[in-house]
Amino acid sequence: MIIDKILIGTTNKGKIREFKKLFKDLDIKVLTLEDMPEKIDVVEDRETFLENALKKAKEYANFYKLPVITEDAGLEVELLNGYPGVYSARFYKIEFGGVENIGDGETKDEANIRKLLRLLKGENNRKARFVSNIVFYTPESFGLWTEGYLYGRIAEEPKGDKGFGYDPIFIPEGYNQTLAELDLEEKNKISHRGKASYRLKKLLAKILK
Ligand code: IMP
Repeated sequence: MIIDKILIGTTNKGKIREFKKLFKDLDIKVLTLEDMPEKIDVVEDRETFLENALKKAKEYANFYKLPVITEDAGLEVELLNGYPGVYSARFYKIEFGGVENIGDGETKDEANIRKLLRLLKGENNRKARFVSNIVFYTPESFGLWTEGYLYGRIAEEPKGDKGFGYDPIFIPEGYNQTLAELDLEEKNKISHRGKASYRLKKLLAKILK
């Protein structure tokens, strides 16, 4: 298969930064949705990470007529039976655990973190994992799918300002720092997204010429 361009189907700035670094050694031009003049809105309304990633991949590949890489990722907390899960980005406003209002000048990430810390207050079981599902899909309906996990625990309070999302409250197994205290290079080496991307790159290397 000959491919000279690939579209990363996300507008999340934290993810764009990570994906650009992860795919920079592929001999392919990497575009993101920010490079596309026409925008389409894809609603992530499915119940699994894979279904959401595949839905986005199909819609972007068919609309932009380009091979695409999409990801659906999230945080699963053991004590909360896997929540926030596929609701990670909008956890603050779902009914589970009570709706959390966004304060003046506060971001969605901050409201999500506040809600999660409230639900885990005083709890000893703080085990959690990040999950990443990545889909590669072409307009000819050829697809690949990979998955990656990062295990760890939820901190008592946010620390660090380097990452995005739940990074300031996630301490990976074997570490004392949160993900937001690690450099991007180090996060990519151990992260769910880093692992799923590495697996996808190995598969792509077999089919791309
Ligand atoms: P989506 O994959 O764009 O639907 O969003 C997933 C949500 O999960 C993000 O908005 C973050 O809240 C969270 N998330 C996914 N990956 C990470 C990560 O690497 N660090 C911190 N939060 C993440």
